[in-house]
Amino acid sequence: MLIAPSILSADFGQLKNELEKVKNAGADLLHIDIMDGQFVPNISLGIPVMEAITTYSDLPKDVHLMINNPENFIKKFIELGADYVTVHPESTDQLDYCLEIIKSNGAKAGIALNPETSFEVVLPYIHDIDLLLFMTINPGFGGQKFIHSVVEKMSEANRYREFHKLTDLLFEVDGGINEFTAKICIENKIDILVSGSTIFESNDINRTIKTLRNS
Ligand code: DX5
Ligand code: ZN
Repeated sequence: MLIAPSILSADFGQLKNELEKVKNAGADLLHIDIMDGQFVPNISLGIPVMEAITTYSDLPKDVHLMINNPENFIKKFIELGADYVTVHPESTDQLDYCLEIIKSNGAKAGIALNPETSFEVVLPYIHDIDLLLFMTINPGFGGQKFIHSVVEKMSEANRYREFHKLTDLLFEVDGGINEFTAKICIENKIDILVSGSTIFESNDINRTIKTLRNS
């Protein structure tokens, strides 16, 4: 089980410190949310902050693009240190091209499914991706409640992954993860747990990351 703290909930006034803290607490990768105020109703961080994150942390970087026309920015984020780049099918009419740019620039490709987006949407691309991200909140903000109906989609995807022996395909969950919802995700064979507010609002990050991992 890999734990990916979502930087969105970090204290940006102390970014360097926050990055060190999660690394020392055993985080496996950093989840970095990029929002444009168009695809989602919020603006988060952009290129200068991504640069700072790469300067101050050598943890692998999992970049979650919540922007329209991500094809225009994928290469830039990989140059800035993204190891994984995840895009939403609804944000582009060139999803194939997005996956191609990600892979030809040496990163791993992910597709994110909103709570209302069905598993079938990813099927035409399933052999081209390394990561499938289940959104368990509507994207845009940290600190929301886990949407339980997504669990059914996780089991459907698990049956598919097992049947087709897609052993290298990683499943990631993002939104509303705490020790209780982490347990549900672990039972549903999720490989990566993203967690923002639960980790950064905790006064014992070491313990919180351990608890999430062992839920
Ligand atoms: C929201 C982001 C999430 C967010 C999760 O659109 O994709 O990564 O930071 O925050 P929590 O863990 O607080 O739900
Ligand atoms: Zn995210």
